[in-house]
Amino acid sequence: MCGIVGYVGPQQAAPVLVEGLTRLEYRGYDSAGIAVLNPRSSAHPSRVVRAKGRVRDLEAALPARLAGTVGIGHTRWATHGEPSERNAHPHTSFDGRVHVVHNGIIDNFHALRSRLAADGVELTSDTDTEVVAHLVARELAAGLGFEDAVRAAVTSIDGTYALAVADVQNPDRVVVARNGSPLLLGVGDGEMFVASDAAAIVRHTSQVVLLDDGDFASVTADGFRTFTADEEHTARSAVTIDLTVEELELGGHAHFMHKEIHEQPESVERMLSGRLDDRFGTAKLDGLNLDPRELRRFSRVKILGCGSAYYVGQLGASMIEDLARVPADAEPASEFRYRNPIIEPSTLYVVVSQSGETADTLFAVREVQRKGGTVVGLVNAVGSSIAREVDGGIYLHAGPEVAVASTKALTHMSVGFALLALALGRVRDLSFADGKRIIAGLRAIPEQIAQVLAGEEDLASAAKELAEAPSLFFIGRVRGYPVAREGAQKFKEITYRHAEAYPTSELKHGPLALISPELPTVAIMPADDLLERNITAAQEIRARGGAVVAITHPGVELGDAATRRIEVPRNEVELDPILLTIPTQLLGYHAAVALGEDVDRPRNLAKSVTVE
Ligand code: AGP
Repeated sequence: MCGIVGYVGPQQAAPVLVEGLTRLEYRGYDSAGIAVLNPRSSAHPSRVVRAKGRVRDLEAALPARLAGTVGIGHTRWATHGEPSERNAHPHTSFDGRVHVVHNGIIDNFHALRSRLAADGVELTSDTDTEVVAHLVARELAAGLGFEDAVRAAVTSIDGTYALAVADVQNPDRVVVARNGSPLLLGVGDGEMFVASDAAAIVRHTSQVVLLDDGDFASVTADGFRTFTADEEHTARSAVTIDLTVEELELGGHAHFMHKEIHEQPESVERMLSGRLDDRFGTAKLDGLNLDPRELRRFSRVKILGCGSAYYVGQLGASMIEDLARVPADAEPASEFRYRNPIIEPSTLYVVVSQSGETADTLFAVREVQRKGGTVVGLVNAVGSSIAREVDGGIYLHAGPEVAVASTKALTHMSVGFALLALALGRVRDLSFADGKRIIAGLRAIPEQIAQVLAGEEDLASAAKELAEAPSLFFIGRVRGYPVAREGAQKFKEITYRHAEAYPTSELKHGPLALISPELPTVAIMPADDLLERNITAAQEIRARGGAVVAITHPGVELGDAATRRIEVPRNEVELDPILLTIPTQLLGYHAAVALGEDVDRPRNLAKSVTVE
């Protein structure tokens, strides 16, 4: 949530900042703003421009000339204070000297605001961030140098932050600080960048320095100095990121969500490459840092993630129970971390996250580690906080995912869980033949996803009909239930229609009361041993006038239990849910398009939930 950027170099800062913010807009789009320093102008040594709404609204508000080669910028997902220009970042100190952008939450901001107000400082926004600008300005006024002033100011702050600070009287630099929110430096040739994530700066450089919690950096055009609260110089070196501008462009698609759905056949194939071991009928997962003997020692698996990642975690738990016969369950990381969980040395903890920056999931990692547990990660974003803090893991290699509504990363998570389940199974009782069966199933997935995507037109027409309903159910049984949960999540996230998931088996225990011709149901009905029961449930819905869109397999006889059928190819029963999920992505997408919604930027949401 919230994206920050900074620039120091020979170029005009404003266009660089605005471009960076455009790439970070998925992190929040309630307001945007930049501050640019211009030491040549005595009238305006710094200029701040802010606008409510999108980065394009900020662009429209920029003056024709905004000179200056050092600046900071922000795109906001509102936590404290309504989305408005007044609450947009950068925030400026009482004396006009200091500008600050911030991602995170300052927990003790009420106390700090009261203290500042009591001292006569006029607060001009409702945000938690504004206090930082005043605190830094006070330290500067007391005679500290810029870096020391930032260091001193953050000692008063409780909470999480990625901060970029600009000082009118030190117009050659930006000072940054990180604690709990992502932040990196981009190293260019005679220029330096600051960003929440590499997407913001990829056009300029592929060399980045990933900052750790507790790090500060003083950034000038010719380089940077990192330091901490106790050390004046720390060693931080640059790494090369594997990201191209093309991956961040729409490439002919109307929306990123559409692009990402269609990337899946290729991206899953890439993910599997080199990870399937035909000789032993298992998966090669060296990144787990667990040899077969260590893998065997776990008698339980606990999966932790948030939102859709948690739903995929439920699917992962059933794959692990099916293939490895190890008890496994999934829990929202956001709940786990707050309930003083019992951490067992014999349990393997698995966190799952696209961004690798979800605060609740990151804190769950730390909770497990603090209590001596082993935690591995299924993470997409390389070099992200979670990827760096876990004891081992599986990179998902889905490539960048820009749309707030996750699709391909979720598919990669479920494939990642299949690989993990296979590896866990093969050090236990899963036979070589069954291992080979799962490998063959995994190899078929990319082509089978392509087959589902080929039916897009039909899915779009089903989606249009569903979009007309004010409310709908998604139902599924056992392995189909996480599919239903994710289907409902995708639908509601981008259409703003009420979509609720239920286990099919639970319908009779209450929700059937809601069935009427106005409430259609999307039913996950694979050709498995539960099909007969699923057909009975669908018939009960039909008998009460409800429409049923069945997501099913070829050859399944549904009779009048479904008003519409959507077929996906059959795979192995343990892997079928991966394919059954794909149509739900397109149902959500096309329903949102039919309703004219902003598919890639749903209201109130942000891609990367870096606040608690
Ligand atoms: C998915 O469509 C959602 N936007 C959301 O539930 C997401 O899956 C969740 O916030 C977790 O994000 P992560 O995978 O980056 O940790």
